[in-house]
Amino acid sequence: MLETFYEKLSGIHGKKKWKKFFKFIRTHFGEENPGDLNFDFDNRISRIELVQKVIDKKNFNTYLEIGTFKDELFSKINCKTKVGVDPFSGGNVRMKSDDFFLQNKQSFDCIFIDGLHHYYQVLKDINNSLNVLNENGIIFVHDCLPKSRDAQSIPRTEANWNGDVWKAFVNKRSDPNLDCYTCYADQGIGSILKRSNRNTLKLSIKNFKKMKYVDFYKNHKTYMNIIEFDDFIKMI
Ligand SMILES: C[S@@+](CC[C@H](N)C(=O)[O-])C[C@H]1O[C@@H](n2cnc3c(N)ncnc32)[C@H](O)[C@@H]1O
Repeated sequence: MLETFYEKLSGIHGKKKWKKFFKFIRTHFGEENPGDLNFDFDNRISRIELVQKVIDKKNFNTYLEIGTFKDELFSKINCKTKVGVDPFSGGNVRMKSDDFFLQNKQSFDCIFIDGLHHYYQVLKDINNSLNVLNENGIIFVHDCLPKSRDAQSIPRTEANWNGDVWKAFVNKRSDPNLDCYTCYADQGIGSILKRSNRNTLKLSIKNFKKMKYVDFYKNHKTYMNIIEFDDFIKMI
């Protein structure tokens, strides 16, 4: 309820005084805050190395990145064909992901989703990506492991913000036809393979958007199927 209210006001969330206002409301009237999680990404592989190692191992030829920003990842990736989609900066296609998928005719081996970090948008980006993913391809979803309630709350109030991407990933973890893991690296890199799920998450939840951070806090290892990258790369 509060979150819907926040989202309706999200057009003004960039302003500093509104961020303070939202933080105040969240602190006093928002969902329970169970505390922070101590994810330590500092000594682990970066998204740049991780994606490149997978591209090299699988001999992938086609790479799509949704949300490129300053090209920190896009410019470093070495792949025969690269498409980077962002309505504002970086990449080589200037549009929103929904518009891109409407007109796109290409298929891809590797897709990195890192656009708007809101549940419904991430879910759309994942579903659209699945439609254009080559048979042995891999989808990566950035920002799957938020360290705190506020890092995943909408609207954004934090500098280091992941949004509620994790809820879209939990949704896909429940699909028996998708094999999903979260690599413990660089804000949590969700990985989706088109093959039967080796560890299907069984939840009776109908509306994943309504999940709370306290659920994530208590169950993140199971929900996200967290794995070290060295183990993940052996399985693909
Ligand atoms: C976190 S940044 C991407 C960072 C980049 N992938 C990297 O690894 O360095 C998110 C980007 O998503 C873009 N974005 C926001 N909404 C989008 C949408 N609907 N479709 C595609 N990109 C979007 C923003 O403009 C922003 O540049």
